Amino acid sequence: MIYLRAYCDFLLYKIMMTRRIMQKKWRLGLSIALWLVSVHLICAHNEKSPTALSIKEGSDDHSKGEETLLEDEDSEDLEVFRPTDKWQTLKPGQAVPAGSHVRLNLQTGQREVKMGEEEGLKYGRDGNRLGMLNLHSPSFTAEELKESLKKLKEGMDDPVDSKQDENAVRAQFRPIEELKKDMEALDMLVETDVQVMRRLLNQFNNTNSTTEEKITALLDLEYLVHQVDNAQNLVSMGGMQLVINVLNSTDIRLQESAAFVLGSAVSSNPSVQVEAIEGGALQKLLTLLATQRPITVKKKVLFAVASLLRHFPFAQSHFLKLGGVQVLSELFQTPGTEPLRVRIITVLYDMIIEKELISQVGMDLIPDSSHQERLRQYAEVSLLPVLVEQGWCSLVPELLASPEHDCREKALRTLLAMMAQCQTQYKQNPALTASLSELQKQYQELVLTEQEVGEQDGYFAEILALVDSMVVKM
Ligand SMILES: *[C@@H]1O[C@H](CO)[C@@H](O)[C@H](O)[C@H]1NC(C)=O
Ligand SMILES: *[C@@H]1O[C@H](CO)[C@@H](O)[C@H](O)[C@H]1NC(C)=O
Ligand SMILES: *[C@@H]1O[C@H](CO)[C@@H](O)[C@H](O)[C@H]1NC(C)=O
Repeated sequence: MIYLRAYCDFLLYKIMMTRRIMQKKWRLGLSIALWLVSVHLICAHNEKSPTALSIKEGSDDHSKGEETLLEDEDSEDLEVFRPTDKWQTLKPGQAVPAGSHVRLNLQTGQREVKMGEEEGLKYGRDGNRLGMLNLHSPSFTAEELKESLKKLKEGMDDPVDSKQDENAVRAQFRPIEELKKDMEALDMLVETDVQVMRRLLNQFNNTNSTTEEKITALLDLEYLVHQVDNAQNLVSMGGMQLVINVLNSTDIRLQESAAFVLGSAVSSNPSVQVEAIEGGALQKLLTLLATQRPITVKKKVLFAVASLLRHFPFAQSHFLKLGGVQVLSELFQTPGTEPLRVRIITVLYDMIIEKELISQVGMDLIPDSSHQERLRQYAEVSLLPVLVEQGWCSLVPELLASPEHDCREKALRTLLAMMAQCQTQYKQNPALTASLSELQKQYQELVLTEQEVGEQDGYFAEILALVDSMVVKM
């Protein structure tokens, strides 16, 4: 039963995973629907295992009826007695399935059990059949037990032909092994992720496909490559290179979708990050950022750049060599790209902090060789001097004018992260000094309202601490 339940969970999981991809596949639709119904039925049956009745041992006074204890437990916790068409003695602690006949053997003083006439058909001999699940009388009461004892005393136990019985069971319920085979056959009709990806890549790579079809294929791929294995399969299938090549296609919608797939595939996936860098992705992404594109495309491209650089010092030094900081500086200052500004400084801030954290970790850990290697790689990423050179000491303060708390918070954190390199410039920036004292006033008031509702360390208090820290350090 545990096995069946796990199998059901597995099947339902597979349904969840494949459902989205299958939506448009009408040919499989019918078999999927049937398969879904059968899985749901089997799984639903399995969950409703009959409530077991355990008969408490140690009651001497049989004439007063049984002292029973009804327990609504999971039947897996109990040793469940499997009645047959013959009377069998019940051992202490054994639970009796609902619908069984129970009688007292007056000679031995022990309880004996056999199948109930009606329910009998549902119990197989080997207990290895689905039919053993009794769905019709999930529980029975002490009253019913007494009633069936009374019937037995009245001699109502007609013997049932056991051979006939078993055949009936066979006819009604198929063994689990057989059902499993059927499910496996159905399983083969459902494509695996690898098969789905192969089909999508073919659709995408086919010169006869329309742009719409190609975009659909890319968006379906994007959904799949969130899984680490699928992203790695995308690489081994040659799909990564196809996606990278499409970054400089002439259709902006294809560019956008390709950047989206790329960003998702490399997120937290170091081996795929390496492949993307070696496939020349970074150069193409920077070209998209440096040339005129709609903001929607740039958003996805920035996402891909950020995912590619995260925790990957090799890509970060590559980014510096390709003039990535300059590309971001120009983008930041291009009118109309305001919605992208906070994303841009987030990319830069994350790189600064990553390097800082890795050197701090080095101070309290016993350095091992891989840590030394990481330190060496991050040492090659010399971002802060480039930021100063590209004018970021005066670009970041511009973001403090934003009405968004989130944007101000990011700006303040970045300003603090660049303090050592930018301090002189900050001090000579009257606009920055003015914004900081304005923000200090605003957040002091906001903190009061936060405290009125009982919040001591709220979001505004956090921002105020950043502002105060800036003021002190200047
Ligand atoms: C594209 O369509 C043409 C004509 O319909 C067909 O001959 C060709 O095999 C197709 N190409 C691919 C790659 O499917
Ligand atoms: C894409 O199509 C070309 C021929 O049109 C083929 O050589 C190449 O292997 C295909 N790539 C993938 C990843 O399917
Ligand atoms: C994209 O760039 C590659 C090389 O960087 C080039 O071979 C290819 O022709 C370009 N594709 C388009 C559609 O411009």
